[in-house]
Amino acid sequence: MSELTRWERAYQAFETPAEERRKFIRRLRSVGAGGWSRDARVLEVCSGRGNGLAAWRELGFARVYGVDLSRSLVEVSALRERCAVGDACRLPIRPASIDVAIIQGGLHHFPTFDLVRAGLAEMRRVLAPGGRVVIVEPARTPFLTAVHAISELKPVRALSGRMDAFATMTEEEYPLYHAWIERTDEVLRTIRQEFDQVWLRRRWGKLVFVGRPRR
Ligand SMILES: C[S@@+](CC[C@H](N)C(=O)[O-])C[C@H]1O[C@@H](n2cnc3c(N)ncnc32)[C@H](O)[C@@H]1O
Repeated sequence: MSELTRWERAYQAFETPAEERRKFIRRLRSVGAGGWSRDARVLEVCSGRGNGLAAWRELGFARVYGVDLSRSLVEVSALRERCAVGDACRLPIRPASIDVAIIQGGLHHFPTFDLVRAGLAEMRRVLAPGGRVVIVEPARTPFLTAVHAISELKPVRALSGRMDAFATMTEEEYPLYHAWIERTDEVLRTIRQEFDQVWLRRRWGKLVFVGRPRR
């Protein structure tokens, strides 16, 4: 089995799989996925340890697939048989073969904005006409500012494993994450080059975008 990095250990410690699934189910319901066809082919890009896929399954979507760059996370994934090791910027997926492409917390890990554009273009490429994209990424909000301030306090880190994990992930993602959360307008402009916006929400430290591939 591949060895986990410091970031991957913190990511695993931040939430239990059950907590993560409950969060994803709430999120998917909030974007209206409960009303979407259960025949939809769903691709989770940057699927991490696969709990997003498990959430789709719990909502009744059987045709779910995941792609993540980290072999060690794919190896421990829920629905391992549905996940492939691969690069979001060169998805191992046929064009126009997916009905819902979702990415949650993946784009802000890409080392450059050109790669973010490449990843978005890939999601558009694999979507069938009329397909949907769902993008969930961090964005600066008062809540996020407060969580960062609190999670970085030494006594809080000592007392709360979850806060320590959050602070560790933030440290490991320096400087990409910090730059990302200040660039929400640019992020949105870049997303809208590939997708027409259907729905947008920015709260609790997250940007949630639902769209359709541009014609
Ligand atoms: C913050 S995690 C999010 C994982 C999962 N979507 C979740 O919300 O729990 C970011 C994930 O992106 C993956 N990742 C980063 N760059 C990638 C790339 N170029 N292609 C595919 N996956 C990538 C990492 O391995 C990691 O699993």
